[in-house]
Amino acid sequence: MPRNTLSVTDNRTGKEYELSLSKGTIQAMDLRQIKETDDDFGLMAYDPGFTNTACCRSRITYIDGEQGILLYRGYPIENLAQEYNFLQVAYLLFYGELPTQEEYQEWTSQISRHAIVHQNIRKLIDSFPHNANPMGMVMSTVAALSTYYPEARDLKDHENRRRQVYRLIAQMPTIAACVHRHKEQLPYIPPNEELSYTANFLTMLFQTDHSSYVPHSVIERALDVLLVLHADHEQNCSTNAMRSVASSKPDPYSAAAAAIGALAGPLHGGANEDVLRMLRQIGSKDRVQAHVERVRRGELRLMGFGHRVYKNYDPRAKIIKALAHDVFEVTGSNPLLDVALELERIALEDEYFVKRRLYPNVDFYSGLIYQVLGFPASMFPVLFAVGRTAGWLAQWEESRNDPDQKLARPRQIYEGHTHRHVPAGLSASVSK
Ligand code: CMC
Repeated sequence: MPRNTLSVTDNRTGKEYELSLSKGTIQAMDLRQIKETDDDFGLMAYDPGFTNTACCRSRITYIDGEQGILLYRGYPIENLAQEYNFLQVAYLLFYGELPTQEEYQEWTSQISRHAIVHQNIRKLIDSFPHNANPMGMVMSTVAALSTYYPEARDLKDHENRRRQVYRLIAQMPTIAACVHRHKEQLPYIPPNEELSYTANFLTMLFQTDHSSYVPHSVIERALDVLLVLHADHEQNCSTNAMRSVASSKPDPYSAAAAAIGALAGPLHGGANEDVLRMLRQIGSKDRVQAHVERVRRGELRLMGFGHRVYKNYDPRAKIIKALAHDVFEVTGSNPLLDVALELERIALEDEYFVKRRLYPNVDFYSGLIYQVLGFPASMFPVLFAVGRTAGWLAQWEESRNDPDQKLARPRQIYEGHTHRHVPAGLSASVSK
């Protein structure tokens, strides 16, 4: 028997099959030969939420969820966060290697050149209600970019594709800042090509009318590290949305808008917002135990805890926890930090969490930093989206170049009625 095979006996028929194995995986289509009768459709795998289904081969991000390891293109996240900035990491994710000095200069100059948004895009943002959810505004605005750059639909042209990549990485902070200022009813600050990506982002967000704003270097670095930590995370929900929508070959703005929609949910990028609400609701250290009891009783989830892939401490959460201390030295501490630390301490000792291997994830401490930087909670997922755009685009480009990729179109197990006759008279009543 060849070693890289899996022998399967169908006990319905007694027939035996040999399925080939590669990289610990069977080809789902090989299951289709397993039939009970000749006109049977063949076996499928049922996997809601894709908990055990590989949808692509990828060379971008590696996660070892058991050990709590995260690598971008083979480099540990801890080293990248310490030694490199967000645009260098975005280049690494996209091209597979860290940039040389020359490549970095070209990359950053292309990105800063594309940072300004069309004035009608600003008008579009102005037209949203001031109290609209920021992720809704960002998603709609990114979708609208497809109407301003119709050439983006030409996916065969390599240079054209690159231009959309520069533009989306460049314009995400501009759009995010416009949305924030619209919400706060502050005038728009245009991008400044002279500044670093993150200093420019902070300036567009926080410069007041007549002041010259210079972000504190610790704050600038902290936001940059947060962007690095959020830049990619293999086949998460929003990346899957990006790849899935991109598989029908629309322009990348449409696919990115779908990814932003996926990121907005509380089980994904929206969790950081809910963590802060939860910490506020708990209010003080002495009320943590009672909150944990409610989680144990299944009344609510502990936001910022648990992960589909990590069954160990999320390495990004460790970095953010340390980063929070640096930031608080500059801004003064966040009173909710004590509540968060106590919550983590109790949860990590509690049998409910230990048994289910639930640890703090990337969203547990990030909100505490965003809050002291001056962001309202509803903006937290937007900051996640700005960082994750780098990953979405790298994954988009990879899927485009992957000959195995096809239109994403899952199967279903149909459990509805089989063929039924429409009752007499129903169609007639519609025409009256
Ligand atoms: N609090 C309490 N119980 C939990 C939690 C939590 N945060 N997460 C999972 N569980 C329990 C769940 O109730 C289930 O228990 P039981 O076996 O008794 O039914 C068990 O753990 C397995 O949960 P699951 O829902 O099957 O696991 P999943 O892999 O589908 O969920 C998750 C992953 C991230 C959706 C979930 O852990 C969760 O809802 N966490 C809170 C939201 C959150 O922090 N999301 C951010 C994720 S990291 C950033 C990102 O990638 O966007």
